[in-house]
Amino acid sequence: MGFSWRGLRVLLTSGPTREFIDPVRFLSNSSSGKMGWALASEARRLGAKVTVISGPVLTLPPKDVEVKWVETALEMRRQVLKTADKADLIVSAAAVTDWRAKVVSTEKIKKKNGEIEISLVPNPDIIGEVGEIKKKKEATAQKFPALIGFALETRDMESSAFKKMWEKNLDMIVANSPATLSSDNIQATLLLKNGVKRKLPLLSKRLCARTILKEAESFL
Ligand code: C5P
Repeated sequence: MGFSWRGLRVLLTSGPTREFIDPVRFLSNSSSGKMGWALASEARRLGAKVTVISGPVLTLPPKDVEVKWVETALEMRRQVLKTADKADLIVSAAAVTDWRAKVVSTEKIKKKNGEIEISLVPNPDIIGEVGEIKKKKEATAQKFPALIGFALETRDMESSAFKKMWEKNLDMIVANSPATLSSDNIQATLLLKNGVKRKLPLLSKRLCARTILKEAESFL
């Protein structure tokens, strides 16, 4: 009998995060969330129970998928850590904004002539923290979900992505280029923790999602 996804719990992060500097302005990126929705839809089609923790996106989620909407990286982190150990697979497709304002102004910052300075502090690496928890669980032979991350690279794609996968203790990483961000297609390379790599052709995000999940069956 083949692998069955029926009843497996898949937790996904998707979309960008918004890091506010005042009540109306924020730092973010152009992630569309399409890859996250494609993964959610494919996992659902295979019979998994799917929860997506999504930043603000303009595209609609697929049917029969639970969505927890968040705005900031800190909110996303809180939701992920709350539910991580209940999942069988966690896929981190979110484009988490790397920094947030050190101080968020409660009032709209007044426009003035000249430069202004905003201090930014790094956001926590959400999947990295989950990977740390997984490492500790593995050391004591406790069960913990499999982890898949994404790596958007402009150069040294494979070596940088391999490094990220090992540093974050992931089972697989999907290396791709910024051309993917708001496109309907993706040219990805799947890297596995045992060093295996699989370069995929340019695919629709749906087909790529299907291929990623199929590959995940080897470590689920
Ligand atoms: O380190 P880098 O941001 O390139 O790693 C990308 C991977 O890490 C993606 O899977 C992304 O969703 C995840 N990530 C995260 N929290 C961050 C930054 C990235 O979970 N603060």
